[in-house]
Amino acid sequence: MQKLCLLCWAVLLGLGQACPEPCDCREKYGFQIADCAYRDLEAVPPGFPANVTTLSLSANRLPSLPEGAFWEVPLLQSLWLAHNEIRTVAAGALASLGHLKSLDLSHNLISDFAWSNLHKLSALQLLKMDSNELTFIPQDAFRSLPALRSLQLNHNRLHTLAEGTFAPLTALSHLQINNNPFECTCGIMWFKTWALTTAVSIPEQDNITCTSPHVLKGTPLNRLLSLPCSAPLVQLTYQPSQDGAELRPGFVLALHCHVEGQPVPQLHWHIQTPGGTVEITSPNVGADGHALAAGSQPRFQAFANGSLLIPDFGKLEEGTYSCLATNELGSAESSVNVALATPGKGGEDVLGSRFHGKAAEGKGCYVVDNEVQPSGPEDNVVIIYLSRTGGPEAAAAGEGVSGQQPPGLLLLGQSLLFLFFTFF
Ligand SMILES: *[C@@H]1O[C@H](CO)[C@@H](O)[C@H](O)[C@H]1NC(C)=O
Ligand SMILES: *[C@@H]1O[C@H](CO)[C@@H](O)[C@H](O)[C@H]1NC(C)=O
Ligand SMILES: *[C@@H]1O[C@H](CO)[C@@H](O)[C@H](O)[C@H]1NC(C)=O
Repeated sequence: MQKLCLLCWAVLLGLGQACPEPCDCREKYGFQIADCAYRDLEAVPPGFPANVTTLSLSANRLPSLPEGAFWEVPLLQSLWLAHNEIRTVAAGALASLGHLKSLDLSHNLISDFAWSNLHKLSALQLLKMDSNELTFIPQDAFRSLPALRSLQLNHNRLHTLAEGTFAPLTALSHLQINNNPFECTCGIMWFKTWALTTAVSIPEQDNITCTSPHVLKGTPLNRLLSLPCSAPLVQLTYQPSQDGAELRPGFVLALHCHVEGQPVPQLHWHIQTPGGTVEITSPNVGADGHALAAGSQPRFQAFANGSLLIPDFGKLEEGTYSCLATNELGSAESSVNVALATPGKGGEDVLGSRFHGKAAEGKGCYVVDNEVQPSGPEDNVVIIYLSRTGGPEAAAAGEGVSGQQPPGLLLLGQSLLFLFFTFF
């Protein structure tokens, strides 16, 4: 009996008739076809002949495609996997299929797809991924599919598309992407323009609609009016202290980053001080100045309106303050150097040589030589003069300055006049 079975196996293998038990393998028009559709399969069965070119696993109950799922059949040209329960396609599940021309993954539950699987499928001509739960396509997902002619991504959960996603698909002639919940913000406007001008056929354009913002819900992308989209612009200014304030050690320095852009850019501060670099995603305090996150009060208070307050400004807070604004269209940055001069200790001369300025005669403040062209952030300088009245080395009040105003304010006012010359 056993001998007989061994013989059976030998015959089967010898004739190359191996086929997984639930499937039906046959040859037709020179293609080796393995039909495993409608079999209630929960995994890809083993035991295929190595020369299978067409494999149908449609309408089963496969829950996922693990790495190496098709290692037995490297010559596959067509792979049908529609109507399963696939949620995950692991990296390396499809990567070995360099001869694959048609791949149907439609009508599954795929939300977790390793897009690197597509990078080796250089022969692929048809890709059906419609009716899944894809929320996102990386910008380089289709970077190496030079033969792809038809791509179906309709009925997914795509919110947006990165500009240039379809650019590498030089052979593309058919794209279906309707019935996705697109967010109609500036980030997708490129697609509207592209869809209107491309030679690729894009059917059912009236079903390529916005789901958000609410006012645009249901509007077809091709009927969207142009949105007022603009890349960020920033201008960093210095908030002079109110009249009458005395600038004593420990005063509060206020910088203001004025931001424009549509959509409203995200603001980020980058601060380089002698003690190290500080990165702040704005805001870190509420309008009342209290920390938004639990913990201690931040040393640099970044408000939602673009202001940065630095209480107790001292030598440790000297440095370069940069604000960076970013939205989906780009980013912009502006920097200012803040230095602290302590009168009466030759501090002005040190600052003068560092920042190409010279002491303004008899005024106790700084004039920056306007002939010097700004060449870098070093030249965007705010120099803060501490009040002689309040400093540790306090000199007589009003010394060297006229009028009744506190000297610190006067000095600061003049330094503003003279030093505010290179803000961008
Ligand atoms: C596949 O291989 C088997 C035997 O190894 C052979 O009988 C069959 O003709 C082959 N099919 C194709 C399409 O080459
Ligand atoms: C287009 O969208 C409408 C409204 O959601 C829907 O009734 C219709 O079935 C969709 N057509 C296709 C082909 O998806
Ligand atoms: C921003 O808000 C803070 C706190 O409310 C306030 O001190 C500051 O003056 C505001 N800045 C501007 C430019 O209005």
